[in-house]
Amino acid sequence: MVAYDPKYPRAHYDRVGIYEWTRLTRSRHGELNFLVHMDVMRRHIKDSMNVLEIGAGAGIYTKELVQMCRRLVVADISKLQLDANQEKMGELGLLNLVAEYRQLDLVDLSPLAAESFDAIVCIGGTLSYLLDKASVGVQQMLRTVKPRGIVILGVMSLINSVVRLMHLVPPTKEIRGLTNTRWLLETGLQDQEHNPETEHYCHMMTSADIDELLDLDVVEIVERRAAGLLGMAGEESLNAVRADTDLWNLIVERELEWSKLPSALDLGDNIVYVVRRR
Ligand SMILES: C[S@@+](CC[C@H](N)C(=O)[O-])C[C@H]1O[C@@H](n2cnc3c(N)ncnc32)[C@H](O)[C@@H]1O
Repeated sequence: MVAYDPKYPRAHYDRVGIYEWTRLTRSRHGELNFLVHMDVMRRHIKDSMNVLEIGAGAGIYTKELVQMCRRLVVADISKLQLDANQEKMGELGLLNLVAEYRQLDLVDLSPLAAESFDAIVCIGGTLSYLLDKASVGVQQMLRTVKPRGIVILGVMSLINSVVRLMHLVPPTKEIRGLTNTRWLLETGLQDQEHNPETEHYCHMMTSADIDELLDLDVVEIVERRAAGLLGMAGEESLNAVRADTDLWNLIVERELEWSKLPSALDLGDNIVYVVRRR
């Protein structure tokens, strides 16, 4: 696995800029993914909490979190994402509710005091950018959250990505060859060595990868969820359902319920874990 280099995720998200704001509204599978994360946050984020949102991006969850907790610190590696986040919170009249904006790399949270947050939210795949430093990112969050505090962690799912992007498997083999395609499917690692034509280096994970990262004495797993499970139906079918409010509500209800099934865990867009520091 190629070593983590912060310049790649920073450059990628500086380039994406404000477009990130519509990440979960421009598709129906994005909407379902968002709703599961919201369900998780409503269950665990309390209005008494001091919360760190790391890898906050343009603020899709900032706008919600800031109204759910007592104090929110918003952090990201990308200056442009932080600018976009501030712009959006300003437009929504929520900017004065954000306690602080910090440009931080998840592999080094030392600028934040140890044991200073009741909860840390790191969702939407931020940990997936850390490649060989993913366990360092986990350790950094466990250092920064209070004992008995919680971490909400969401990563990109390998199996869901393969299902949704199956049409790209033949051209991938064509460009990269069978050995590199096998590497991608077996490890979920889109790294420099095996994918020279992209700079979007990331680790799409299975729940086994997350279980391994979190197999620590200080970690108690509270909840595991699949987010965006029914997105696998495809946009055309989902749009047809979305046109009928009663039907859409029924599908959302099923998404929320089935996202809790252990057998569904790897099938959502994102795999979400809620853990408590012992
Ligand atoms: C897919 S976006 C998710 C944004 C937001 N959490 C959401 O779900 O909409 C991933 C975010 O993680 C940030 N990121 C990537 N690597 C990071 C790192 N090492 N430290 C902090 N943030 C990072 C990116 O800049 C980007 O804003």
